[in-house]
Amino acid sequence: MLSHRERCLIQALIACVFASSVYYLINYYFQTIPVENKLVNMEQLSPLDPSSFSRPELAVVTNIAINLSVSFEKKIFTGFVNLYVQKVDEGASEIILDSKDLKIHKITEVDLNAEVKYAVEQPHGEFGSKLTIELPSKNGNNFIFKIEYETSPDASGLQWLSPDQTAGKKHPYLFSQFQPVHARSFLPCQDTPGVKIKYTATISAPPQLTVLMSAIRDQTRELHDGKLFHFVQDIPVPSYLIAIAIGALESRKIGPRSHVWAEKEMIEQSAFEFASTEHQLQTAEAICGPYVWGIYDLLVLPPSSPFGGMENPCLTFVTPTLLAGDRSLVNVVAHEIAHSWSGNLITNRNFEHFWLNEGFTVFIERKILGRLLTPQDQDFSAVEGLADLKDTVKRFGEDSPLTRLVVDLKGLHPDDAFSTVPYEKGQTFLRYLEEIVGGASEFEPFLRKYFDTYKYKSLDTSDFKKFFIKEFSASGKQENISSIDWDLWLYGTGLPPYIPDYDKTVGQISIHLHESLSSWNESSEPSPVKLDDVKYMSASQIIYFLQLVLDSTPWAVPKLKQIEKIFELPKNKNSEVKFRWLRICVKSKWEDKIPEVLLWLNEVGRMKFVRPLYRDLYEWEFSRSTGIENFKANKKYMMHVSAYTVERDLHIHE
Ligand SMILES: *[C@@H]1O[C@H](CO)[C@@H](O)[C@H](O)[C@H]1NC(C)=O
Ligand SMILES: *[C@@H]1O[C@H](CO)[C@@H](O)[C@H](O)[C@H]1NC(C)=O
Ligand SMILES: *[C@@H]1O[C@H](CO)[C@@H](O)[C@H](O)[C@H]1NC(C)=O
Ligand SMILES: [Zn+2]
Repeated sequence: MLSHRERCLIQALIACVFASSVYYLINYYFQTIPVENKLVNMEQLSPLDPSSFSRPELAVVTNIAINLSVSFEKKIFTGFVNLYVQKVDEGASEIILDSKDLKIHKITEVDLNAEVKYAVEQPHGEFGSKLTIELPSKNGNNFIFKIEYETSPDASGLQWLSPDQTAGKKHPYLFSQFQPVHARSFLPCQDTPGVKIKYTATISAPPQLTVLMSAIRDQTRELHDGKLFHFVQDIPVPSYLIAIAIGALESRKIGPRSHVWAEKEMIEQSAFEFASTEHQLQTAEAICGPYVWGIYDLLVLPPSSPFGGMENPCLTFVTPTLLAGDRSLVNVVAHEIAHSWSGNLITNRNFEHFWLNEGFTVFIERKILGRLLTPQDQDFSAVEGLADLKDTVKRFGEDSPLTRLVVDLKGLHPDDAFSTVPYEKGQTFLRYLEEIVGGASEFEPFLRKYFDTYKYKSLDTSDFKKFFIKEFSASGKQENISSIDWDLWLYGTGLPPYIPDYDKTVGQISIHLHESLSSWNESSEPSPVKLDDVKYMSASQIIYFLQLVLDSTPWAVPKLKQIEKIFELPKNKNSEVKFRWLRICVKSKWEDKIPEVLLWLNEVGRMKFVRPLYRDLYEWEFSRSTGIENFKANKKYMMHVSAYTVERDLHIHE
């Protein structure tokens, strides 16, 4: 919380200091006040979204025109954005935006061609600063504000890589990750998923580099000292889906509406790995309805990217840890494709309802998988997901409020609530609802109608509930519908109240192997399992086997050494395999494996891998300080969100 003195200063600022010259003085003064990092002054935050200052119910941004140029030397963007603003409440006298570490130079109203008054408040830690612009007197309810500004080299949504951190080693690289609350570090905006905007962008960059955004690529123009790239996103998107990447990038066409982009060192491998993209898109369309975004491109990021994939519209960002060489991890692409409907067409109103994005997306991802492979594979994926969920519930505790499907984020950063719960508990709920209404043949038409009815909007859980009840109550299913315990599902803690009877056929071989290796005495008996027994196992069966090992009492190092040989693990390029194997090694206290673990931790930034491994290192006294030292040395190369969360996992409090 802020001290009394700071509050008074802020109140004084709001009350009288809109004149920008005076504002600068105060801003300068504010910057010298140490910022309290954790607690948030909650009265300041929006009643509609506890992670945003903006007040779209008073005045709302509808369009953004971005015009920026990048400087890799200074690690900043400079230029301006035009915000198209509509007054919603007749009495509104200001528009409230989010900003974070932005240096604002000047704000003008474009039609009036006049400077306007504005104030940037002292930052509230992770949430940044409330930016208030006074609405000048003018006929009508529409305004265009031109905001001239620059970003900070420490912008939390931007990752700047030096040439030696790229595959090609010659050129720098930049990529963004704005979900959940980091768009405000790139541009002033109403940084809440409850507001959707169309955007255009003009970005100037050095001549050797290519700029990509989450939009349709328009023309490119050569300048004498660089290149200008134009983009148009004509479908309204939440701010967290604005995305940008700049690097020495190449592309390959992989389908009628798809290119894959990557540094040239990774481009062939990427084109091979993602060759089934169009097939997956068509499968998703058969489930969800037409794909409205025009193109579906993929960008393979450098290894430090924090997520498996990020569903940026028109341009999914993916981690290179998906490049397994055998297309065994493309289910992540199915996930990102599914977001083209859940998340991107229909968006959670705020991140308390994140399951509307992720639970639906996992549910649809598995339907895609079921059609591309078999229904058994669809269920097997759910079984694996359930194992993850059990892990998480155990770690948080059965009673933890973070195990609720709908969470309370007041005073809590969304990154601190992030877990597999909205994904897996959410998909389990939808599976349950599907069963209750009589199966996929009943539920899928409903799903298409849901997307069609609410496309381009932001919803919360009660909107979904109302629509579901309305659609099914007229269909002779009242008895089933009224048996749903909504409160238990939505607000109950712990594991889901009902777990579907998943088909476990695909996992049988893994379970069998795990049993026979568990009871094997490796110091006196020959191995009951040979290479021939395992070489036809699919990647997901091996992954499941390793998950079973990971979940049981640790095995002795000599046994692990033999297993490593039988499964030819050093040859396996699948990152999910490597991840589980390294965790097993740490849990079994295999000291010689620590250097390999650290090496991998310094290479990849994907939180799904990095966080559990760091937690394992922390758990074992032998590796605790090594893990902490390694993190501290490597932190500057990590994306903000990865560093932020690992810092908490390692109990490093600054
Ligand atoms: C955007 O900036 C470029 C220079 O980087 C300029 O040539 C162009 O006219 C600007 N566009 C608009 C719409 O102002
Ligand atoms: C009611 O739910 C059960 C599963 O709980 C399902 O088997 C049955 O088909 C449902 N009835 C209707 C009319 O959809
Ligand atoms: C494994 O075999 C060795 C040698 O025969 C024996 O000493 C040991 O007790 C056995 N371990 C278990 C767990 O049975
Ligand atoms: Zn997702």
